[in-house]
Amino acid sequence: MNVKVEKALNQQVHAEFFSFYLYLSVAAYFAANHLDGFAHWMRVQAQEEFNHAMKLFDFLNERGGTVELLPIDAPAREWPGPSAAVEAVLNHERAISGRINSLVDLATAENDHATTVMLHWYVNEQVEEEATADTLFHQVKMVESSPYGLLMIDRELAGRPAAAAPSPAE
Ligand code: FEO
Repeated sequence: MNVKVEKALNQQVHAEFFSFYLYLSVAAYFAANHLDGFAHWMRVQAQEEFNHAMKLFDFLNERGGTVELLPIDAPAREWPGPSAAVEAVLNHERAISGRINSLVDLATAENDHATTVMLHWYVNEQVEEEATADTLFHQVKMVESSPYGLLMIDRELAGRPAAAAPSPAE
């Protein structure tokens, strides 16, 4: 496999595992603040991030590349309030979109068509993830001064279905 692409994909595996850690940390923050619906939603998203990492892990293996698991930094643990915690994940998703776009640029420049096509899934996924985080951020911002509003959103977020387990055959 192309060495530059292999290295960049391993860095993306790392970024997705960091996303997993960040969402878990935000889940712990909300759980500690008795917003269990928010905590549940963040925990489901953490599972999705784990799946994103594993999809790349499987692709590297399929293409004869070498998976290199890098150390993961500790994420932040405290935020000034619910909207700041959601804003942290929104900003993170925006940064991840930038990374995915750079990866597509690299795979294209290296004529690695298989990687380019595989990455289209991530390009689409990021559109959805940014939009979801953006909506949630603005809704939380609207109601932040009202415990009733926050509890309404909390109840809605509690209904998020669990993420499906990753399938290597996909
Ligand atoms: Fe894997 Fe939320 O991006």
